Amino acid sequence: MNKDRSSKEKRRLPERSQELISLEEEIKTCYRCPLAGGRTKTVPGEGPGRAGLLLVGEAPGKDEDQAGLPFVGRAGSVLDRALKEAGIDRAEVFITNVVKCRPPDNRRPKKEEVEVCRPYLESQIEIVGPKVVILMGNAATKAVLGVEGVTNLRGQLFSDLFLVTFHPAAVLRNRDLEGALVSDLSAARYRAKILRGSADDGGGSDLPGGQGAFSTEKRDSTFESARGRESI
Ligand code: URA
Repeated sequence: MNKDRSSKEKRRLPERSQELISLEEEIKTCYRCPLAGGRTKTVPGEGPGRAGLLLVGEAPGKDEDQAGLPFVGRAGSVLDRALKEAGIDRAEVFITNVVKCRPPDNRRPKKEEVEVCRPYLESQIEIVGPKVVILMGNAATKAVLGVEGVTNLRGQLFSDLFLVTFHPAAVLRNRDLEGALVSDLSAARYRAKILRGSADDGGGSDLPGGQGAFSTEKRDSTFESARGRESI
């Protein structure tokens, strides 16, 4: 378990909407798929009721299953570090997974499991109202966009909302990917900020937009170069 989640952080509980609380209650009592039988705790997600950024991983692992919280294990440490480097406060973003229960032996969630869990993710996106939904890794990208191939897709924006990036566990396996993860998170932060109308340059016209889902367009350099700007 990531010991960095200090008691100080726990005390800063984000404001949660009643809708989000009700949804979490529903998830906690969900038995719609066989993953329910193997879980210790459900892992609905964590974060404020409204947030500019919503991050989607694959599925809870062992530590998350024990804690009932997303990204608290080794991959969580990588994510925490990347968020920090990108100037993003973890407490201000919403973090969840494609499926809310741990698959046995951390295997990838099956298609049927993703399908039955999908309405929960859709509701979370609707309630939280993010400016950017960050799809971390192939499972999240496949579940939401229907395509995979993160190495080629990363840094690209789809349907003006979904940004693909590497999963923190991929960074654990290959540290060279960390810069790309941080860069994508920074770009997402910048986009969320300007869409909120508070960019330092007051603009936004230089941002990519209008790429449809399944777009294979190459990353926009403006989006990529957003790294290092003001935090959301
Ligand atoms: N990996 C994920 O995809 N999600 C978590 O919550 C933890 C590890």
